[in-house]
Amino acid sequence: MNGIPIVVLASGRGSNFEAIHRAIQTGGLAAEIGAVVSDRRDAPVLQKAKAAGISALSVLPKPSEARALHERRILEAIRAFSPRFLVLAGYMRIVTPELIGAFRSERGYSRIVNIHPSLLPAFPGLDGYGQAFRHGAKIAGCTVHLVDTEVDSGPICAQQAFPIVDCASAEEVEKRGLKAEHELYPAALSWILPEKFEVEKREERLCVRPH
Ligand code: GRF
Repeated sequence: MNGIPIVVLASGRGSNFEAIHRAIQTGGLAAEIGAVVSDRRDAPVLQKAKAAGISALSVLPKPSEARALHERRILEAIRAFSPRFLVLAGYMRIVTPELIGAFRSERGYSRIVNIHPSLLPAFPGLDGYGQAFRHGAKIAGCTVHLVDTEVDSGPICAQQAFPIVDCASAEEVEKRGLKAEHELYPAALSWILPEKFEVEKREERLCVRPH
């Protein structure tokens, strides 16, 4: 394997980690996961990483420790893997400008990628699928975006939408959403990681245009 080195940050279940790992294994994504890092000791994603033969590290935040200090310990823990990108997959902490600065490209954008469970800019924050369901939205979706200093508002890379008119619960929306995420994230990473895109300014916002 000779792909672009990445580190995955995840807090929980790890289904997106699995989808990314699967895409790498089947040749759909030229990347190499150096490590999976979690901020939770018991995150199922760590077991999944270990089972896949990937270094699984937990870097736990200390009580009342500044977020940037916790991130510095993460940077220390992953230094040996020299990741070009950080891939967030259900990482439940807000990242600071310092971490973003450590992954800022020469072209100015951040090399930290995230997947969010809504069609941003609709429904930022927690439980995007639940929000869509409770608002009676007719379409839901997921968004892959570069991470910038404001939460859930970095430049949008890719989105996948799906109808939810026939969904009877937030859980049903989430089930559809995860299926969409597992297709979208590896597909988007296949052009994001080799940086086959331009970032352009549209009024005050940054947009990612693949080429
Ligand atoms: C996904 O819905 C993702 O969009 C959000 O957190 C969830 C993570 O799921 N950021 P998993 O841990 O990858 O299964």
